[in-house]
Amino acid sequence: MTPHHEDFDMAQYPVNMDLRPKVDAFFDEATNTISYIVQDPTSDACAIVDSVMDIDYAAGRITHDHADRLIDTIRQRGLTLEWIIETHVHADHLSAAPYIQDKLGGKVGIGANIQLVQDTFGKIFNEGTEFQRDGSQFDALFQDGDTYTVGHMQGFAMFTPGHTPACMVHVMGDAAFVGDTLFMPDGGSARADFPGGDAGTLYDSIQKVLSLPDAMRLFMCHDYGPNGRDIQWETTVAEEKANNIHVGGGKTREEFIKFRTERDAQLAMPRLIIPSLQVNMRAGEIPTDQDGNPQLKVPVNKL
Ligand SMILES: [Fe+2]
Repeated sequence: MTPHHEDFDMAQYPVNMDLRPKVDAFFDEATNTISYIVQDPTSDACAIVDSVMDIDYAAGRITHDHADRLIDTIRQRGLTLEWIIETHVHADHLSAAPYIQDKLGGKVGIGANIQLVQDTFGKIFNEGTEFQRDGSQFDALFQDGDTYTVGHMQGFAMFTPGHTPACMVHVMGDAAFVGDTLFMPDGGSARADFPGGDAGTLYDSIQKVLSLPDAMRLFMCHDYGPNGRDIQWETTVAEEKANNIHVGGGKTREEFIKFRTERDAQLAMPRLIIPSLQVNMRAGEIPTDQDGNPQLKVPVNKL
């Protein structure tokens, strides 16, 4: 089933290193997620990559402090929000895409394989037929190599499965938003043991990311400050190739699969996986009960 060393042609991607978008990072301490505002250098247009909605899961309370920071920044700068991009269906935080879209507009986009993710988790959460599994909750479903514009700036999506089957890396000019493929060099790589994940496929996707130009800025979706260092989120392809502890310095696919599989077997489920999947597979909408009240489920012994 899993393609081995899937062939890809870097020339199919419209890389443009001369374009340098302004990138602002917003770190969410509760989930160690980094959200980004990416601004076209020649207009007032911008995109958001991987927003966060706050949840106090114990209390069942949703708030929007993190998303409001992004919204306030965009308003203060007089920017136009054109895209709200999800690199994948996150399992560790809730997306604020609908909340942000309601305030600022913009289209919500994710990888076309969201349909596989919806199918898998639609079953696990025993969703009824009213839960569509065709990705129609999103405004755009990206295929590998699809391009889009943010003002005059062209962005494109690179299909990078492995962590999940729907993961996409988004590249705008000399900035790539790697989602959960790579972490900072001393953090390594994302886990590959969720349903539809695969360590070998993740290795192949990471090689694809590392085939981008050496000077490409890479922006992480997560950082956990390994060994007590301060939180960081930006590196380069050259840095990752040389120093990434899981894939750098020429580590082989076989070495990676062995290491990743052993490591993943020891990892606990993310604290917020149950609410995150239910919300994020709906493009950030909170599911409702039969009376229309927002409500989350906890399926027992299903994950
Ligand atoms: Fe993730």
